[in-house]
Amino acid sequence: MQIQVFDTEQQIASAVSAILLKQIREKPQSVLGFATGSSPVATYQKLIEAHENDGADFSKVTTFNLDEYCDLAQSDPHSYYSFMREQLFEKAGFDYSRVHFLTADTADHESVCRAYRAEIERCGGIDIQLLGIGRNGHIGFNEPSDRFSDGPFMVELAPSTLEANARFFETGKPPRYALTMGIGDIMAAKKILLIATGESKANAIRAMVKGDVTPQCPASVLQTHPDVTVFLDRASARLL
Ligand code: GLP
Repeated sequence: MQIQVFDTEQQIASAVSAILLKQIREKPQSVLGFATGSSPVATYQKLIEAHENDGADFSKVTTFNLDEYCDLAQSDPHSYYSFMREQLFEKAGFDYSRVHFLTADTADHESVCRAYRAEIERCGGIDIQLLGIGRNGHIGFNEPSDRFSDGPFMVELAPSTLEANARFFETGKPPRYALTMGIGDIMAAKKILLIATGESKANAIRAMVKGDVTPQCPASVLQTHPDVTVFLDRASARLL
């Protein structure tokens, strides 16, 4: 696991976007795994700028998002699909026929999950997976638990996650359930880039980097992946 510490969020965004842009220059048909939350937003902005100002072409890129809330239509403004449309896809010229989401507004979760994994494999696997991290060490929506998950599955969100994500909902109440890629899916990515900023992530970062590899801190599994780079600001790196 390689750790890089930066002074500002903008510097993190420049470093991460440079890696993603190099990837799509070298392989225009790359498969990218995307994350939601605040952490990747500045990076997405850099990708939009590269598209608008330097002609970066995302039209052949295939994408898989990590997770989606259950019981929200894709068109719901709170869905992660809407988030990605707004924060990246619409402004950077992605081709929606290559955009994949765990469509969580369906009763048949199991076949959605099976089909998602099969589709990732059919596309040749994920070249670069972008990650944030939850305050409790979750990645995607893999909450602390007794075992590492494998493929995509439906999860009941932890109280600390509901609390952390309440800010995105006027009601203050996110849906309790979500579909997420499993740890096995994330670990199968060829390269992983994880972004964390702010004091509230410091404990999770310490557990991820220095703690035991345990499903009680799902991100700790990344210690065993051969190609992970972690991008931190000073506050999130404070306990290292
Ligand atoms: C959510 C997402 C995660 C994300 C995490 C951190 O729960 N499911 O993929 O990494 O929050 O979010 P933020 O970047 O807003 O702190």
